[in-house]
Amino acid sequence: MNQKIYFNGEIVPREEALVDIEDRGYQFADGVYEVIAVYQGKPFKLMEHLERLAFSAAELEISCPGINQLQHETESYLASLNQTEEDISIYIQLTRGACPRTHAYPDDLDPVLIMKAGSLELRPDEYYQNGVKIITRPDERWSKCYIKSIALLPNVMAKKAAKRARAYEAVMHRDGFVTEGSSSNLFLVEGDSLLTPPASNYILNGITRQTVIQEIGPKLSLEVREQSISLDRLFRAEEVFLTGTTTEIMPVVRIDEREVGQGRVGELTGRILTAYRELTRA
Ligand SMILES: Cc1ncc(COP(=O)(O)O)c(C=O)c1O
Repeated sequence: MNQKIYFNGEIVPREEALVDIEDRGYQFADGVYEVIAVYQGKPFKLMEHLERLAFSAAELEISCPGINQLQHETESYLASLNQTEEDISIYIQLTRGACPRTHAYPDDLDPVLIMKAGSLELRPDEYYQNGVKIITRPDERWSKCYIKSIALLPNVMAKKAAKRARAYEAVMHRDGFVTEGSSSNLFLVEGDSLLTPPASNYILNGITRQTVIQEIGPKLSLEVREQSISLDRLFRAEEVFLTGTTTEIMPVVRIDEREVGQGRVGELTGRILTAYRELTRA
């Protein structure tokens, strides 16, 4: 993989992309990010990701280039990679910048914008064919989960707990209701309807989630309801799947020690995955 890095307006070899040790991203997780999938040279939902980046930055009062500028920089970086055959991912991070360590940030910092391409590490085919196990965990995060902040420690701990349990993902719950996975959103199937927790401050409104709600649901004539989902309801679901940029549409066949439905990939989930693949590879 090409190790060219976009670093504040320049494209440099990785060794030259050096960040100040007093960058607030490093000391306070004071920054925001996006991960974008690029299928055969074409970034999927680029503008939606960039708009969310700008939104997250605005929520934290981090100064961010305008959308047109962000688009231009991302497309120029992508063009410089000359990577049109292989599917890749772009990680974009914007931190508030560097200053002597102090909690209350000065207003005049120069933010640091970086982009790094990597391989698009989609999950193995067998995960999509056979489905995966997930675990449930209390949601220990703050109450602004709609911001895609680089402060991800509770997510990191939750994902590690899932790995230890040989599960794909940890789905979190607050006050008895499901929120989302450590790096994914959750849907369940009831009859001909899809249910997913509403876009509140307690979840990240995933771009893949929005694609399912706005494009795939209507295309497959499925009703999609944004509704609070109790843990009990989750356990009774006929089908469950996760959504995310690198997760795509992941069928869930086991939650903790219980089987979902018949313990096999659900029929609707399979159709949604196919529709998503058609959309991303179109
Ligand atoms: C906490 C969380 N929820 C949901 C998602 C899925 O978002 P998207 O579909 O935009 O990748 C992510 C992605 O990283 C995430 O970190």
